[in-house]
Amino acid sequence: MDEIKRRHYLAVMGIPLWLSKTISAQSIDVRPPVDVRPPVQPKPSIPIQKEQNVTANTIIPKDNTSNHTTAQAMPPIANMDWETLATQVTKCQACHELVTNRSQTVFGTGNRNADLLIIGEAPGAEEDKQGEPFVGRAGQLLTSMLQAINLQREQVYIANILKCRPPNNRDPSTNEAQRCEPWLLRQIELINPKLILAVGRIAAHNLLKTNIAVGKLRCKVHQYGLQNIPVIVTYHPSYLLRSPGQKPHAWKDLQMVLKLLNQDMVILEDWK
Ligand code: URA
Repeated sequence: MDEIKRRHYLAVMGIPLWLSKTISAQSIDVRPPVDVRPPVQPKPSIPIQKEQNVTANTIIPKDNTSNHTTAQAMPPIANMDWETLATQVTKCQACHELVTNRSQTVFGTGNRNADLLIIGEAPGAEEDKQGEPFVGRAGQLLTSMLQAINLQREQVYIANILKCRPPNNRDPSTNEAQRCEPWLLRQIELINPKLILAVGRIAAHNLLKTNIAVGKLRCKVHQYGLQNIPVIVTYHPSYLLRSPGQKPHAWKDLQMVLKLLNQDMVILEDWK
């Protein structure tokens, strides 16, 4: 990464910069880098049905709106491959209010073999429009946070607890999170990441099945699921936008992410 970009990302994270005498402050361009996001996905048209309970064993009904007369019955979510999973999510009718308000589902994006899986809350207005997680203001900060530790969005996988936008950006309900869980579980299983970074309260609480405040869940390595995948919890970028004074804490969390990914020795006492 070039020095100017690195300085921009560190500045966004609120990390004080030491300037060498040979680089003047005026020479630092803090404009965001060029947008390299993949093109917008088309909106699927979704028939509205009654609420449906989705479980890992749910067999998604055949799409009767398609012309594929030879289509096979779908496997349970827990057995789906990537392509089936991505297609079937677009047809999910589990939560009536979300289905009636969404423009499209937001499946997840990035490297399906990533070491790092980032899990947020739910799509917002911009994500609902574009069909990709973390592309609004909070997403831009998340992208800069990753770049500050030398990771590009395309190297990691990014998903949310919910695949649909809750109206008016309200918190996902417990039922919605539960109904949506099998999709995310299967994504986690397929990615099998080295590390999960849970951003914000909703992600942390749903993944770790706890109600403990994010501030208290930070600075520990938690474990997720039967595979005992290490989980680090940090503040949500939307919260950091509202409370920039917390950015240095998030920066420490990111340093810990990097150390764990590189399997360096981790001294937890240094992490506050
Ligand atoms: N906030 C989230 O938690 N996820 C998104 O995709 C966008 C904003």
